[in-house]
Amino acid sequence: MSTHHFWKLIGGLAICFALPWTFLIMGPYFSEASTKPVPYSEKDEVEGLAAYPERSTLRYGSSDYGAKIYAAEGCAYCHTQMVRPTYAGPDMWRDGWGGRDAEGLSRETRPEDYFGESFAYLGYQRLGQDLSNVGHRITTREAMHRHLYDPKSFDGDSGMPKYLHLYEKDKVTGEYVPTAKAEALVDYLMSRKKDAKIPEADKRNG
Ligand code: HEC
Repeated sequence: MSTHHFWKLIGGLAICFALPWTFLIMGPYFSEASTKPVPYSEKDEVEGLAAYPERSTLRYGSSDYGAKIYAAEGCAYCHTQMVRPTYAGPDMWRDGWGGRDAEGLSRETRPEDYFGESFAYLGYQRLGQDLSNVGHRITTREAMHRHLYDPKSFDGDSGMPKYLHLYEKDKVTGEYVPTAKAEALVDYLMSRKKDAKIPEADKRNG
């Protein structure tokens, strides 16, 4: 191979790697890294929230530790946290996946919904429900714990494993008592509510 051809080959390879890297990695990185919260105005008629996206309750809190338990226990192998756009799947027809159906606030997930989280657990496959809005569907800590230590008490055919190792059996009452890990995981699950209203003023996303 002549030197001339050699440098052509190297140049061609460099372009083949640089183009996808620029458009698929750097582009999205910089556009998402510049996400800024947009304040709600009176027009939005939102109570209790200052801006969208809200700085997540994750980071430094117990639910941040809970996110690590979620990762360590492999929940993301069976559960997604991404309500897909309707062109990609029928998630919006599934009961409560998009959030508060009854209040007309359910919607697909948007990239900004992960604002402030150290990792977005999009998930690998879906044997169970999408958990983006599970905090709206299971509303008491007691029920959330029960779903972790005895999934079959909700659905007799449940394919979800029992997470008994996150609980200790009380020697006197025989009941399952949550460990600190279980409490943090439940904090995290209760915080899964990705259906906040998009402010009118959020022009970037229409
Ligand atoms: C082997 C697959 C599998 C793994 C791993 C798994 N799940 Fe599940 N999960 C399921 C299936 C299947 C269902 C649906 C049946 C049911 O309700 O139990 C479910 C349901 C649930 C529900 C109820 C959702 C709803 O909308 O009612 C919650 C909450 C949940 N899982 C949390 C978790 C958490 C947290 C972990 C990790 C500690 C986990 N799951 C790990 C398969 C799995």
